[in-house]
Order: sequence, then structure tokens, then C-alpha cells
Amino acid sequence: MNAPLPGHTVSNPDSAAPVRALLEVDRVSLEYRTPQRVVRATHEVSFAVDPADRFVLLGPSGCGKSTLLKAAAGFIAPSAGEIRLDGVPVSEPGPDRIVVFQEFDQLPPWKTVKQNVMFPLLASRTLGRKEAEQRALHYLDKVGLAAFADAYPHTLSGGMKARVAIARALAMQPKILLMDEPFAALDALTRRKMQEELLALWEEVRFTLLFVTHSIEEALVVGNRILLLSPHPGRVRAEVHSHQFSLHSLGGVAFQQTAQRIHRLLFDEQVDQPQLDLRFQDIRLSC
Ligand SMILES: Nc1ncnc2c1ncn2[C@@H]1O[C@H](COP(=O)(O)OP(=O)(O)OP(=O)(O)O)[C@@H](O)[C@H]1O
Ligand SMILES: [Mg+2]
Repeated sequence: MNAPLPGHTVSNPDSAAPVRALLEVDRVSLEYRTPQRVVRATHEVSFAVDPADRFVLLGPSGCGKSTLLKAAAGFIAPSAGEIRLDGVPVSEPGPDRIVVFQEFDQLPPWKTVKQNVMFPLLASRTLGRKEAEQRALHYLDKVGLAAFADAYPHTLSGGMKARVAIARALAMQPKILLMDEPFAALDALTRRKMQEELLALWEEVRFTLLFVTHSIEEALVVGNRILLLSPHPGRVRAEVHSHQFSLHSLGGVAFQQTAQRIHRLLFDEQVDQPQLDLRFQDIRLSC
């Protein structure tokens, strides 16, 4: 077993026992090799996601958020460093890590909503047909779509398709749910509603979430911890604790101040490292 990353064995507030991180990303560099050149997407990124965290990767376009998520899912291997789930190195995709992508057209249109949710359960031989159907209906009920079990995806709104994708992922009962800008294609009102529903679902199921966004507001609402990544190639700028914010905090003074500080941390390139560290302390203290 590898030792937990420094500073990442955390104490569960409800017990004296330390909690081992579920997902450890340990000095991970990720590269794309094209015939012309090598593109470095992230450089020595480290973070650790604890059980039941809502951990957000936040950073500007091209900083490697999606690439990190794909690496955690096992689709891409690090060029340096290691990713571990429950202490075991991630080397390939597995049913313990399910990804929800931005595009809702990830739902095969020839399958009904229920069949869509059942499909990974059957394809991975996780459950037999009857149990898979029961599980699918259970999670469709949780996302408020029980009445649409026999509908086809093209008859659903964008928000409903997002709910199907979430139900399908949760039905697999993964150790960690990986979401890459899952609400980015939705209008602002639906996006807010989906954030609210995701949080309500988390209150009920307490799944572990790794969530990618480039919206500071969404990061503060959805996450309890936010990792800030610098522009290309992505490096860790800071980690911000944000468990105290919810949709009700929107527009509040503390929320706005934290959002502004995150913005400065992400984009103020004049700030050198020692000052960054001070600001990081400041954020953590004031949150
Ligand atoms: N298939 C690929 N081949 C070559 N380079 C790639 C490939 N996919 C991504 N990249 C490069 O890797 C870097 C990180 O890309 P990535 O998609 O992870 O960024 P991101 O943070 O998710 O951005 P966005 O917020 O726009 O989704 C970028 O410079 C991008 O151009
Ligand atoms: Mg992306």
C-alpha cells in the first residue's frame, strides 16, 4: 500500500479515526503525443479526494481538467506520477469509476430511458436483467424521471437527459462519480436547477464526486473542496474549502468575496508564489 499524500490524511469530523483518501492523484503529468509535437496537459498535479467529497477541478480552458478526469477514469495513462483508487493504481477503465460527460447525446436514441440506465449494468454483467431493471427504476425515481422510464431520449429536454445520464451513472454505484461540465450545455435556469438536484441527491446518497467546471460560481455551489489549476499546462495553484456555500449563498457578500479571490488566484499572473500562499491562507481562513 502506498502512503497517503502528505497533508491528505484527513480527520473525519464525526470520528477520531483518520480517513484514507479514496482517490489519490500523485504528481501526475499528462501528455498528448501527436505526430508533430507533445502537448503537456498537466504538470505534476497532486490532490486527494476523500470519501463523500464533492471535489471540484476548476481552471481556465485548456488547463487539463478533462484530461485529469479521463486519467482518473483510466482512459489515459500518466506520463509521470500515479493515480490510485483505494490505494490501487488506476491502469484501465472500470465500473468503479463512471464518467458523466457534457454531451447529453451520449444516450443511445434507440433505447428507452430505462434501457439506457440498465445498459451499463447488463453490459458489465453487474446485475441480471430483473435486478438491473429494479435498480434502474430506483435511480430514475431518485432523479424524478420514474414516469419517463419508457420514453425515448429525443422526447426529453436537456435537463431530463442530464438526469438520465446521472441516474445511469449512479445506478452502477461507482466508488467515484466523475462529471465533466455536465450542465454546461444547459440554459442558466436549468443549470441552477440541476445543481440543486445534484446536491439534494448527494445529501441522500452521499456518493463521492469529482466534478469539472470552469465556472467559479458553479464550483462554489457544487463543491466542498475546490482545486484551482493554472493555465496550460495545468499545475495546482491552491485548494479552497467551500463546504459552507450553497445555492442560497449566491449573491451574498462572503460568496462574492471568495469568488473574487478565486478569480485573482486563477488569473493574476503578477502574483508570485509566496504571495499566492498567503492569499491561499487568507481564503481558507475567511471561508
Ligand atoms: N486529443 C488531444 N490531442 C492533443 N492535444 C489535446 C487533446 N485533447 C486535449 N489536448 C490538449 O491538452 C490540453 C488540455 O486539454 P483539456 O481538454 O484537458 O482542457 P480543459 O481544462 O478540459 O479545457 P476546457 O475547459 O476547454 O474543457 C489543451 O492544451 C488541449 O489542447
Ligand atoms: Mg474540458
